[in-house]
Amino acid sequence: MNDPNGFSYYRGQYHLFYQYNPYDTQWDAMHWGHAVSHDLLHWSYLPAALAPDAPYDSFGCFSGSAMELNDGRQLLLYTGVRKEGGDKAKEFQTQCVAVGDGVDYQKYEKNPVLDMDDLPEGLSPYDFRDPKIWRRPEGGYRCVVGARRMDKRGVLLLFDSDDGFRWRFFSILAENDGRLGLMWECPDFFPLDGKHVLFVSPQDMLPEGFEYHNGNGTVCQIGAFDEETGKFHAEFDQAIDYGIDFYAPQTLLTPDGRRVMIGWMQNWDTSKNTGYEDRQWFGQMSLPRELSIRNRRLYQQPIRELALYRGQPVEYKNVPVSECMTLSGVEGRSVEMDIQIRPEDAANPYHKFTMRFAQDDQYYSILSYRPHESLLKIDRKFSGSRRAYIHQRRCQVADRSGEIHLHVILDRFSIEVFINDGEQVMTATILTDPSARGISFEADGKAVMDITKYSLFSEE
Ligand code: FRU
Repeated sequence: MNDPNGFSYYRGQYHLFYQYNPYDTQWDAMHWGHAVSHDLLHWSYLPAALAPDAPYDSFGCFSGSAMELNDGRQLLLYTGVRKEGGDKAKEFQTQCVAVGDGVDYQKYEKNPVLDMDDLPEGLSPYDFRDPKIWRRPEGGYRCVVGARRMDKRGVLLLFDSDDGFRWRFFSILAENDGRLGLMWECPDFFPLDGKHVLFVSPQDMLPEGFEYHNGNGTVCQIGAFDEETGKFHAEFDQAIDYGIDFYAPQTLLTPDGRRVMIGWMQNWDTSKNTGYEDRQWFGQMSLPRELSIRNRRLYQQPIRELALYRGQPVEYKNVPVSECMTLSGVEGRSVEMDIQIRPEDAANPYHKFTMRFAQDDQYYSILSYRPHESLLKIDRKFSGSRRAYIHQRRCQVADRSGEIHLHVILDRFSIEVFINDGEQVMTATILTDPSARGISFEADGKAVMDITKYSLFSEE
């Protein structure tokens, strides 16, 4: 699997569709896989919702979104891709519609609903994809779609529709001035805490200091939307995730009004060659995360439903950490840990705090913090990988005089670290066998730690 698609609430449950190749663990022949959930954490698979079986989507049913129509049916708006041109065939990308009842979907007989004729002048028909739909408060629907200019720079287009089937161009919402990568994939656009937020997943980004290190990365822009002109004015931008594996996120609004995001927990540069091609699965989703804006930044928290699946807390306060140590009851591979780290003597902050996890006699991964530089690092180079691709990523965190608060969700094949109350998040996959359950701590210099650990989903 790759991108989340059609992440939505429909007829009393959450729906998550996703880019899906049923035939292999490599990307090909994109279908829409489909799963449903009542709590955003336990998912039941349904039959694939879309297969690339029509002339206009024979090369793939690419990413898109879902919406309940006024008549109660569920509409899927997706990118249909076809190839044309013999030996030098090119992909033509169009927007298409299917409607269904939450289980079975029929493609619309007049597909595609948007094609190259609907593009403003100067845009490429080969990169026009990933529509994200929402309902307008004043009636009708709007969607944002990724496109690009001939010079490869991403452009985001808004289209309007009264019924979800007939669409018309409204405006250019935002344009890449060349700073943030090239093509902008998988846009999402929504109001949040009095601002407007634009998510894009740009291809081929250049790093800026400690920001934007993933090549194909994620960007959150926070700003204002001009309803009249249909233009977004960004005031601030940041990476959505500072780890290694996070891309193409999509959000929904829960019935109780929370903006929740889920992302593909992978990265295109490493997903094609993992050394684990013999596995029966490849690709996974992040935890759903609740979003808010604080101090002009995007904050993320694991969805609160997770707290329903905690075991008994294992708690330690004021633990001095120096030589490598373990704590009784602190181990496992589906665990939540709330960790506060402080220098023992504020005038003399420790040089480095290290937590090893997914550890056995041979393998482990590391989360380490250097307070002098305010750098938090994820490192999986000793995790038992068979490939020499990127294994570490650093994140510059706020300087809090040597203190840091880490909320860690460790799962069988991943770690998600919510830093300083969700001000930043680092996500990485780890392929170490789940029997590696050790967790240990060490500090070069003296640090003091409070830790609360819960097993999740009755792991133990
Ligand atoms: C992003 C993406 C989308 C596209 C899909 C194809 O990861 O490239 O732009 O719709 O994957 O699977």
